[in-house]
Amino acid sequence: MNDPLAIVAPGKVEQAQQLLAQYVVPNYGRLNLVPERGQGALLWDQAGRQYLDFGGGVAVTSLGHCPEVMVRAINEQAKKLIHCSNWYQIAEQGQLAKFIVETVMDEAGKCFFCNSGAEANEGLIKLARKFGHARPQNDGAPRHEIITFHQSFHGRTMATISATAQQKVKEGFAPLLEGFVHVDFNDIGALRAAISDRTVAILLEPIQGEGGIHVATPEFLEAAADLCRKHDLLLLFDEVQSGIGRAGHWCSWKTIVGDRSTTVIPDGVSWAKGIGGGFPIGAVWIRDRAATSHIQLCDLLGVGSHGTTYGGNPLACAVALAVLQEIDQKNLCDRSRDAGEQIQKTIRSWNSPLLSEVRGHGLLLGMEFHSERVEQAPGWQPGTVHSIFIVKKLMEAGLLTVAAGPRVVRLLPPLNVTDEEIHTALSICHRVLQSLAPPAP
Ligand SMILES: Cc1ncc(COP(=O)(O)O)c(C=O)c1O
Repeated sequence: MNDPLAIVAPGKVEQAQQLLAQYVVPNYGRLNLVPERGQGALLWDQAGRQYLDFGGGVAVTSLGHCPEVMVRAINEQAKKLIHCSNWYQIAEQGQLAKFIVETVMDEAGKCFFCNSGAEANEGLIKLARKFGHARPQNDGAPRHEIITFHQSFHGRTMATISATAQQKVKEGFAPLLEGFVHVDFNDIGALRAAISDRTVAILLEPIQGEGGIHVATPEFLEAAADLCRKHDLLLLFDEVQSGIGRAGHWCSWKTIVGDRSTTVIPDGVSWAKGIGGGFPIGAVWIRDRAATSHIQLCDLLGVGSHGTTYGGNPLACAVALAVLQEIDQKNLCDRSRDAGEQIQKTIRSWNSPLLSEVRGHGLLLGMEFHSERVEQAPGWQPGTVHSIFIVKKLMEAGLLTVAAGPRVVRLLPPLNVTDEEIHTALSICHRVLQSLAPPAP
């Protein structure tokens, strides 16, 4: 059998492209880079070219590439036990859940483990359906409608594209799962008006990631929590992209409303991406509060009601726990918050005519561009997506970033990024933006 690593010889971008084109479903728009190895915030391609990775696998590599703690945890656990079934008492699952409940959430509840963000959100959606059956409408019919928000992104499974309020992810997949109502983000009046007898939950990203880094206002989160209490709805937060320190706190909504808020307490939270630092795992936390007079919300998904073979296997749980402990011990939530503030301040100081805004929290940052000015840049080709044009220019200069929608470019470095790496990345970014549009004299 051929050595799989030898399939793509150094410099043979074309060979990699050809294999992908011939044998892999063309569902991703891929850039012209064949990654070979990474260390911390650095990534090298097959040609040996070095990049600063401020895309982080789309907010995944919280500790950078191949961090020592993850390599050690993978090795040690792999030597003991990689997989076994949820038919047994998986000790690592209990340890990871304890950390999430006590440290990440600091709120009583229980966890369910899966393998991705979409699956974690499926868990929240199924929880809402169960809750709607347990607490039905006055006529006895289950409540089932979930309110989600324009520009949201909740995943690519059938339920989660139904939940996602972006037309582009739904195209060609009808009929979708019914029971999702989409309203404008941060519009309290629209949210209030969308609630009916059928409504059972509100699902939102406290900071919308894929939709272009849109931050919920504190008033909006307070109002959503208030409406949930008033109408007996579940408040569900999708923290798949914004959670686990990415936005300067374990929980991104606490960055927004403050970590002592006693009013904004979700009933369910989903995570994936950064919680595994690159190892596939998804997680759900469900609050320990009464669902009915005889069952707690966190016990509603009872035996046989939900599950997945790989979910919470010993290897994934051991690695995720190592990632969380490292974030905790190195105070990386604080580091993320401070580094993000510094980056935003520096970018604003450039006064680049290309940029309309820089926004976000912690190291979940978006630079929004003026489309019409990007179209004046040297090398612009009509028909190009504006954000992708900028991402490519930055990549050519040695900085990896990620697009979010047509006009926003995300900066998502590891939470332990150094000042020096930030300085180098921002110098590259500044230089590229200046070459595309010199500042007004
Ligand atoms: C907020 C949010 N939810 C869910 C998902 C889906 O996660 P996954 O790709 O792991 O299924 C994503 C992925 O980008 C996301 O950003």
